[in-house]
Amino acid sequence: MSGLAFTRADFPPGFLFGVATSAYQIEGHAQGGAGRTHWDDFAATPGNVVRAEDGARACDHLNRWAEDLDLIRDAGLDIYRFSASWARVLPEGRGAVNQEGLDFYDRLVDGMLARGLKPALTLYHWELPSALNDLGGWRNRDIAGWFADFTETLCRRIGDRLWSTAPINEPWCVGWLSHFLGGHAPGLRDIRATARAMHHVGLAHGRAIEVMRGLGMGNLGTVCNFEYALPRSQSDEDRAAARRYDGIYNRWFLGAMFKGAYPEDVLDGLGPHMPEGWQADMGTICQKLDWLGLNYYTCKRIAHAPGPWPSLSEHIGDLPQTQMGWEICPEGLHHFLHFVQGHTGDLPLYVTENGMANPDSPDAPDQARIDYLNQHLAAGKRAIAEGVPLKGYIVWSLLDNYEWAFGYEKRFGLVHVDFESLQRRPKASYYALRDALAQS
Ligand code: FCB
Repeated sequence: MSGLAFTRADFPPGFLFGVATSAYQIEGHAQGGAGRTHWDDFAATPGNVVRAEDGARACDHLNRWAEDLDLIRDAGLDIYRFSASWARVLPEGRGAVNQEGLDFYDRLVDGMLARGLKPALTLYHWELPSALNDLGGWRNRDIAGWFADFTETLCRRIGDRLWSTAPINEPWCVGWLSHFLGGHAPGLRDIRATARAMHHVGLAHGRAIEVMRGLGMGNLGTVCNFEYALPRSQSDEDRAAARRYDGIYNRWFLGAMFKGAYPEDVLDGLGPHMPEGWQADMGTICQKLDWLGLNYYTCKRIAHAPGPWPSLSEHIGDLPQTQMGWEICPEGLHHFLHFVQGHTGDLPLYVTENGMANPDSPDAPDQARIDYLNQHLAAGKRAIAEGVPLKGYIVWSLLDNYEWAFGYEKRFGLVHVDFESLQRRPKASYYALRDALAQS
């Protein structure tokens, strides 16, 4: 067995390492006075989630957070990227505050600081309060105001101690995956809903940034996911389809947030379904940011397909795959670090999620994950050497957790979780990372 092929000295001084989690995936959402979320509703609907599992108990992080923070500190990591649940703070999404929820995040942030960890908050990692979904959720333009109010409520309490904050995790998933592909809550397959969600998610991002600037908070950014779109064949049709996929996935939010404009080729399809007057919102969406985070996992082979826009189909190629069936393609990370820099220039970049699911048992070393991390860190190092301002790398995830529509089956953790006993057991990849970071 071999470990990680790098030490801190292989990266520029000040380069930061971290781990990420999200609220609904680990906390145990049935506890502590949290409100119901659209993920509870989605999971309770047959056919949406493997074994209809939900986040009611998850990793019970709500009660075991101190042990979890100790694991992060003991690995020698710098950053803990976590998220807060909107419905834990505001059970109905608006109005009455759940003080117990605010107290929890307050303690959690203090717990990070006490352990020398940098708290990197994401305000929204997908658990929309059900009461807001009743009102149309991301389809309703009012969500930007509701989200701004939630941002203010939470950040007035903990905003003074955060190292960084991003409003929304992976806008593509909130917009496209949840409203066009139907793979995530609320499980819609509707192009009009999609266009609205794809716009309102940007608007909510912009409003949250304004609120946080108003509170005097700094180091504000955005976390987008990117998927490397490769044409299935070199035919003109497949190449055009891959370009459309790339536009929807990788260029829509980047264009809006950094250039104040949506890509024309995506507007070809979504334009007719956009909410009236959307053009006037572009200034709000395009805020000055302090950093951008890339979540990167895989590539996809795209082919032309008959039928309405975007007229494409997705395929898997021949590279080795993870437990998710995702191809392992570190080249894509290298591609996106340069591609994003083309939009963001000197802005600091972070890999805010990268990692793999593997059918781990606590006793067998997860060498596949160590290899995955090695390959992607090598891609990052290469980009740095070529001038990309990459400032940190954050592994998804600290713990095995609730992997959304896949339930508890897909294990992404550096630490194994037994979902019966809730016992945590660090995997070989955890120790490999700890050993690499301990060397200088
Ligand atoms: C990302 C999500 C995260 C997790 C990983 C595997 O898209 O941000 O919550 O599900 O994928």
